Amino acid sequence: MNSRPRRNRVSSTVRNMIQETALSCANLVYPLFIVDGTNVREEIKSLPNNFRWSLDLLLNEIEACINLKIKSFILFPIVNESLKDATATYSYSNDNFYLNAIKTIKEKFPEVCLISDVAMDPYSSDGHDGLVKNGNILNDETLPILAKMAVAQAKNGIDIVGPSDMMDGRIAYIREALDNAGYTSTGIMAYSAKYASAFYGPFRDALDSAPKAGDKKTYQMNPANSIEAEREAQLDCEEGADFLMVKPALHYMDIIRRLKDIHDLPIVAYHVSGECAMLQAACDNGWLDFNQAMPETLLSLKRAGSDIIITYFAKQYAELNQ
Ligand code: PBG
Repeated sequence: MNSRPRRNRVSSTVRNMIQETALSCANLVYPLFIVDGTNVREEIKSLPNNFRWSLDLLLNEIEACINLKIKSFILFPIVNESLKDATATYSYSNDNFYLNAIKTIKEKFPEVCLISDVAMDPYSSDGHDGLVKNGNILNDETLPILAKMAVAQAKNGIDIVGPSDMMDGRIAYIREALDNAGYTSTGIMAYSAKYASAFYGPFRDALDSAPKAGDKKTYQMNPANSIEAEREAQLDCEEGADFLMVKPALHYMDIIRRLKDIHDLPIVAYHVSGECAMLQAACDNGWLDFNQAMPETLLSLKRAGSDIIITYFAKQYAELNQ
């Protein structure tokens, strides 16, 4: 035998020397859920170790993350039902607690990178990402609402806006609105290939944002399709996106690789709530070892072609790697 691959695995020093993929805390984005009020730290039942935070306590949590070298966060608002309406007006209103939180966090920790959510569902009485009329999700009528939301977030200091709505043409529309308002440095992380997935369950529990009627299949992608993901990503590139996202991540690693191979923009994997909850549940049952299975999962997403990984395990990964 001339060729013995095992010779290159003989010791940890040799293994480390030839390791192809490296994952660092700098690649991770930690999702955080914000509620209005004070002194709130409420665990999300279907997403253990993740909480609904009020801003006062969230500031301490962000500081703890920074000390662990997690410096990028994606923020989601949990909006009181009484503030929701058909056109999501609260999303860009001056007294919106989420916009205020963005401002306060950036003032206190200017070095962090904050990513927003741009979609109507947290603010919509219909629970859809776009405007609903007679059971239909209207595309072009949704765009001005998304643009107002994005500009309001930019005004309050968001670094990158994250349109998660899957309306056609929204990247170009938002880019133009941001530029016209003078926010030429505010980035756009496009949810390019966002699938109509069953794995968003715990997130919708956290936000109480499940659609009141119907499903999201007329705007989110069919899990059976991959050629279409290329088309979506191509359009987002042409429209001015700065990042291309694939969501969910684990079940769509082929899409991550496919987009990585054909695009120059950074590829973001959203390791979604249901995917994290699944692993956590197996570990809590003693069926898997969390400290091994979790880092292997994140490393695999990096190897598949993700430059950035949004994961509910970001803080725990950083704690393990101190
Ligand atoms: C909605 C949005 C969703 C997630 C992020 N933004 C849910 C949905 O599309 O219904 C899911 C994230 C997760 O499951 O972790 N704009």
